[in-house]
Amino acid sequence: MEIIILPSYDQVSQEISGRIISAVNKKPDSVLGLATGKTMLGIYQILIRAYKKGAVDFRKVKTFNLDEYIGFDSSDPVTFRSYMNKNFFSQVNIPPENIFILPSRPTNIDAACQKFEEAIKKAGGIDLQILGIGREGHIGFNEPSSSLQARTRVKTLTKATLKDNFGLKTGPRFVLTMGIGTIMDSKEIILAASGKQKAEAVAEAVEGPVSSSCPASILQFHRQARIIIDKKAASLLKRKDYYKWVWKHKNEVDDVLKG
Ligand code: GLP
Repeated sequence: MEIIILPSYDQVSQEISGRIISAVNKKPDSVLGLATGKTMLGIYQILIRAYKKGAVDFRKVKTFNLDEYIGFDSSDPVTFRSYMNKNFFSQVNIPPENIFILPSRPTNIDAACQKFEEAIKKAGGIDLQILGIGREGHIGFNEPSSSLQARTRVKTLTKATLKDNFGLKTGPRFVLTMGIGTIMDSKEIILAASGKQKAEAVAEAVEGPVSSSCPASILQFHRQARIIIDKKAASLLKRKDYYKWVWKHKNEVDDVLKG
């Protein structure tokens, strides 16, 4: 894993959006795995600005969102479809038929999950998956104890997630989410985190054992995973000085070879 620790949330957003823009410029029909949550907002804002300036074109891009709440009309402001429309899709040029989000009122849960998995396969797999992380280490809505090989399916939220996403009010309890196995099939993964409320989950994911108790720890098994976080989210990492050192001197290997 590459662990990139940056001074601020803004720099995290810049770094990740820069990588998304490069990926799309290199492969205009990129398949992107997208996430929701507060952490993603800065990234979407930068992507929208870049699109408006003509620095990136999303016309051929396909997107798959990680997860969706169950039991709401898709236009309900609580849904991730509404979040995505409001914060990203309505302001860029991804064709609606290229946008895949799990249904919030599936008529048949298993069939909906199967269809989603098949659409990912048909698109050629996810090139770049962006992830946030929950306070208890979830990725997508794969809460602790999720099978590390699971495919897209229904899950029940933990109380901690309900509290984080909805305050103490009653929120949706059930969700559809890409499974950890589905996420791990992505060719490249970037996990973003910001703030000290994420520090424990980040430390467990990066330096703890690989365990379903911290679903994000599975990224230790991925060949192309990057953890891009601000210094508050990195504050509990034991080896943070080493990670910073690696990042700072990353491009010097060529000089070493040249002698
Ligand atoms: C939700 C999403 C996750 C996301 C997490 C973090 O629970 N299902 O995919 O990573 O929120 O959200 P935030 O960035 O708001 O902390």
